[in-house]
Amino acid sequence: MILKAEGLRKLYGGFCALDGVSLAVGAGEFVSIIGPNGAGKSTLINILTGVTPPSAGTVRFKDRDVSGIGPVRLARLGMARSFQLVQIFPDLSVLETLQAAVVARLGRGTRLFASLSGDREVQEGALEVAELFGLGEKRHVPARQLPQGDKKLLDVASAFALRPEIILLDEPTSGVSTADKTAIMEIMVAAAKRIGIQAIIQVEHDMDIVFGYSDRIVALHQGRILADATPAEIRADQRVVDTVIGRRARVR
Ligand SMILES: Nc1ncnc2c1ncn2[C@@H]1O[C@H](COP(=O)(O)OP(=O)(O)OP(=O)(O)O)[C@@H](O)[C@H]1O
Ligand SMILES: [Mg+2]
Repeated sequence: MILKAEGLRKLYGGFCALDGVSLAVGAGEFVSIIGPNGAGKSTLINILTGVTPPSAGTVRFKDRDVSGIGPVRLARLGMARSFQLVQIFPDLSVLETLQAAVVARLGRGTRLFASLSGDREVQEGALEVAELFGLGEKRHVPARQLPQGDKKLLDVASAFALRPEIILLDEPTSGVSTADKTAIMEIMVAAAKRIGIQAIIQVEHDMDIVFGYSDRIVALHQGRILADATPAEIRADQRVVDTVIGRRARVR
């Protein structure tokens, strides 16, 4: 197992957002986390990626305890993520955004942009990811001028530019049209293969996407795991269909 979480609990004051969640993800897996609004999906991703410390429980990445380690050190170890709400610098161009990620991966010095133009590895790394994500022609466009779908794509691409072993994506296709969702997923899967990413964990509400791409589905409800199973098993689980899937969409 690359990533193993055990007994995760998260309290916000008296409110229990996660209650005894355990999860293990191995190489080659594409895992989707589903659940109604407020189920604890983002809280789980935030704990797995060291953004939020758990109130109890452990997270082990490549057999190393990483609870509360922080996203920067975690990225160096080989885990990257994107956020539910796009986190891009509006004034940076597509290429500059990706260059910043490559710089972070390579651990280049702090005089970020002063040295960028002369650094071929940074240049080429950023351009390669831009092209993998179909953003090559827009490489000089400032992020704020991109349409919403491309903003999401750039955010996800930045995480891929870190060349992680495992990537966690919190609603990578939210706020984009159904056609764009599928396009983003196709690009992500191809890029993951190309870059050599071993596992993907995503939070996703769109059931066509969830059932179309996942090897495994984890259904969260009120901070607990309702089911952790294959798409076929999830489809046949009436409790999950009633409490999680039925609220949003019919399963085809
Ligand atoms: N920083 C916080 N302080 C207090 N309560 C919080 C905090 N973060 C999350 N919560 C609460 O914890 C619960 C789980 O939140 P979380 O964001 O993990 O849900 P989610 O499954 O990602 O929902 P959504 O589908 O809306 O993104 C919610 O009831 C939320 O209001
Ligand atoms: Mg969320």
